[in-house]
Amino acid sequence: MASKLFPAVPRVGRQLTRQLPRAQFRPFSAGPQRFSDTLHVHRNTPENNPALPFQFSEQNNQLIEEILARYPPQYKKAAVMPLLDLGQRQHGYTSISVMNEVARILEMPPMRVYEVATFYTMYNRDPVGKYFVQLCTTTPCQLGGCGSDKIVQAITEHLGITPGHTTKDGLFTFIEVECLGACVNAPMVQINDDYYEDLTPESIKSLLTALKESATATSGSQVKVPAPGPLSGRDTCENSAGLTSLKEIVWDPATMMRKDGALDGEAAQPAQ
Ligand code: FES
Repeated sequence: MASKLFPAVPRVGRQLTRQLPRAQFRPFSAGPQRFSDTLHVHRNTPENNPALPFQFSEQNNQLIEEILARYPPQYKKAAVMPLLDLGQRQHGYTSISVMNEVARILEMPPMRVYEVATFYTMYNRDPVGKYFVQLCTTTPCQLGGCGSDKIVQAITEHLGITPGHTTKDGLFTFIEVECLGACVNAPMVQINDDYYEDLTPESIKSLLTALKESATATSGSQVKVPAPGPLSGRDTCENSAGLTSLKEIVWDPATMMRKDGALDGEAAQPAQ
């Protein structure tokens, strides 16, 4: 009897110890756990649920045909990203109905489309303002020019919202983003499809003012919005201190090359 009961003792002991609460260890980091502020799940809301119909416009349907023609028919799901982009541009954001319509057109399981839309941060799955202000706060922009911290402060003061929020009038959504590839003209911001660079607190405030005025202007009145690019007066990313090297032409193809196509100068002389 004892020999039959004995093997059960360690098993029962293991089961009991498994039920005891265990301490949670975080061996490598002492920092607090931070969750993303963007849920990678969809929650139905009155303005974003699958029951709301979405259809591409006639003009976009033509564009879709052009896009699909770039891929072999059996690989048309490869067009998922441009179609989601098109849907976002038409609808204002990538709603669940946009994703479902893209899945229908491309004959993909909707889950495959959701996976793409939730992976890339360029797809806004919640409504954004008319002007989507994406300020770069990565290190070069944080250190370049006046520094992006001052620009964050200027935008926050001017719009009355902190990053991740939309103004009450629905005109501006402001977020911080990582490097947008224009570090040489730091600090910079992307507003919708345009880059504005070499920012200062004053120039970003007057840009936002001009955008607001242009959005609320009555027909006939003209508001001058600054052209995209550097707001400092530079054309592109040339040295703002002027030329420091290559001040004169050191090699001019027009004078250094022979017109008859043979090699120039001594190199063309026959060996003695
Ligand atoms: S760090 Fe801002 S654009 Fe690259």
